Amino acid sequence: MLIRSRSPHDLTESDTTPEALYWNRRTVVAGMLAAGLVPQAVGAVQAAEVNSPLPRLAGKRTRTLDEEWTSYDSVTHYNNFYEFGTGKEDPAERAGTLRTRPWTVRIDGLVAKPQTIDIDRLTKLFPLEERIYRLRCVEGWSMVIPWTGLPLAKLLALAEPLGSAKFVAFETLRDPRQMPGQRSPVLQWPYVEGVRLDEAMHPLTLLALGLYGRVLPNQNGAPVRLVVPWKYGFKSIKSIVRIRLTDRQPPTSWNLSAPNEYGFYSNVNPEVDHPRWSQARERRIGDWLPRKTLPYNGYGEEVAALYRGMNLRRYF
Ligand code: MTE
Repeated sequence: MLIRSRSPHDLTESDTTPEALYWNRRTVVAGMLAAGLVPQAVGAVQAAEVNSPLPRLAGKRTRTLDEEWTSYDSVTHYNNFYEFGTGKEDPAERAGTLRTRPWTVRIDGLVAKPQTIDIDRLTKLFPLEERIYRLRCVEGWSMVIPWTGLPLAKLLALAEPLGSAKFVAFETLRDPRQMPGQRSPVLQWPYVEGVRLDEAMHPLTLLALGLYGRVLPNQNGAPVRLVVPWKYGFKSIKSIVRIRLTDRQPPTSWNLSAPNEYGFYSNVNPEVDHPRWSQARERRIGDWLPRKTLPYNGYGEEVAALYRGMNLRRYF
């Protein structure tokens, strides 16, 4: 494969779940509970205020999940954002160089109304929602994250997609001064991703502007990123500057880098292993034991129909 050094997906078992993350508050609280040292307090961990200097970004909660949220600290310090390095803690350390204002997103290609939207107009145009989603990384770890954002479908509707549009291509900012990782050829820059138009229009597909009730930290893809919860995490492209509608399947960064390892669809599928790692199980960050991975990351009832009749081994 083309990966020259270590890829984000090139991890050993110990990399995927560092010891420090095992011993987060949840594990400690669970241990104390088991020992009878504290009253039932786990729910309080979930509701806790986060300690963040970032501005608040409220949204009406429209989707819950009966699973414990991953700690804010883990969500914001265990990241993949190659524009700031290939180590999990690099983005939190280095993404301060990214300037997120002014910021515009260009929507063009096969649309009746191509336009450039200022990020601050987005929040005026659309009501924000809070949705709790699982995020499953192809490396074998997963998180539960409260996102704040809006359905991508609403933004696309504004540009009026033409009947000939079949796919949506996304592009991250390219600026090696702000994103020093782009000085290294570890991936082709800018980072690009794509989904089919029906996937993009699916009500689960979110454009996220925040998490944990605050604006997105730079390391999580500020000021705007995609979240497609039934696909592996690398589809969730960060710091988007361009959205282009097209009639051809667009190139995607990981597929360009290693086509035999990363397909275009990348739906979470415990039955189709990555060439180097089984996808049958995952480790929720903060948990001790692995759990079974669910088809479509648990969103099958809502999205399986999008792939009816497709050979999911071929279209992986
Ligand atoms: N987007 C850009 N622009 N650059 C990246 O390196 N990494 C992807 C995805 N989006 C990446 C990206 C991968 S591999 C994953 S798993 C998720 O972002 C991680 O999102 P998180 O760090 O917010 O958990």
